[in-house]
Amino acid sequence: MRALVVDRIGRLVTWDDERPVLEDAALVVEDGVVAWAGPSAQAPAADQRLDAEWRCVVPGFVDAHTHLVFAGDRSAEFAARLAGQPYAAGGIRTTVEATRAAPAHELLARAQRLAAEALRSGTTTFEVKSGYGLDVATERRLLEVAAQLTPHRTFLGAHVVPAGVDRTAYVDLVRGQMLDAVADLATAVDVFCEVGAFDGDESRAVLAAGAARGLDLHVHANQLGPGPGALLAAELGAASADHCTHVTDDDVAALRDAGVVAVLVPVAEFSTRSPYAPARRLLDAGVPVALASDCNPGTSFTTSMPFVVALACRELQMTPAEALRAATQGGATALRRHDVGHLRVGARADLVVLDAPSEVHLAYRPGVDLVHAVVRGGEVVR
Ligand code: NIG
Ligand code: FE
Repeated sequence: MRALVVDRIGRLVTWDDERPVLEDAALVVEDGVVAWAGPSAQAPAADQRLDAEWRCVVPGFVDAHTHLVFAGDRSAEFAARLAGQPYAAGGIRTTVEATRAAPAHELLARAQRLAAEALRSGTTTFEVKSGYGLDVATERRLLEVAAQLTPHRTFLGAHVVPAGVDRTAYVDLVRGQMLDAVADLATAVDVFCEVGAFDGDESRAVLAAGAARGLDLHVHANQLGPGPGALLAAELGAASADHCTHVTDDDVAALRDAGVVAVLVPVAEFSTRSPYAPARRLLDAGVPVALASDCNPGTSFTTSMPFVVALACRELQMTPAEALRAATQGGATALRRHDVGHLRVGARADLVVLDAPSEVHLAYRPGVDLVHAVVRGGEVVR
């Protein structure tokens, strides 16, 4: 058995029900799993020691929504937006063209760089969506790349209808042949339910076909305007409804009643100069909330969960503790994982040592690299 002790922790966030935060604490990891947490003075010896020097230790971030696998560059589109152009779903097709043309090894190398960047900023679990292939072979290729990065792989063939393709035929392809071709690689299915992408009936057809194959459901819901996405997520028992920028009181009640996680992605709103999601209404109504990066080349080209947390505190009126919980435990709930997103005994030992006395500094010191160390599965990886 290999043991690691992290001791002299000034503030340890475990999300334990009784004592979610310990002070002057230590944590013992055995075989990659949290085995003990308690007062630093009582910490047992171990093979390996990480001295936190009274810094704050938090669970590794769980990023439940990314589009990490793609090729090309859309900085010109971003610059045009800075000059006043609005965002539209059609920009996705630019990335599709570049992605189809890229060899698998290039897609993998690019995605690995982004995954490494995410890990450096404390992300120890993440989801990856396909959706920049939009044909059978390329969607499969994207999920093959994703399979080398993460166990959480979401098929997003229903991102937009590709240029020059009949929409009814495309929806049939996605929910039939394409889904069959990726079913062994995907763990979930997602649909961009939005004006300019897929309507409620089309989205329901694709999601139901995924559910019939045993996949978890996520929905890009109510991002650019009001729409049927959130209600559909509730109706179908989806794991999450993502974005939720334009939700009505009925949408909020339906999400709460169905226990659907609202995955909020504030950098998408930051980067598209859009209104922010009503996090307070969702939280106050009792909807489970997660925060995610939405890392993608069109609307949110960041892997930084610390930046997401900072924005959530500044723009979504979340407290630092709410934001941290949403970026860790909330993400884990959206991915239906019980072993990550917290540091209770039995959790996978994924943690971040912050170069700060508390999680408040994630918002208080925006844009500053506060990650002192990252441990994943008990291994010190940064
Ligand atoms: O989550 N909303 C759909 N998909 C992405 C944007 C994709 C793109 O513009 O390339 C999102 O914001
Ligand atoms: Fe997205």
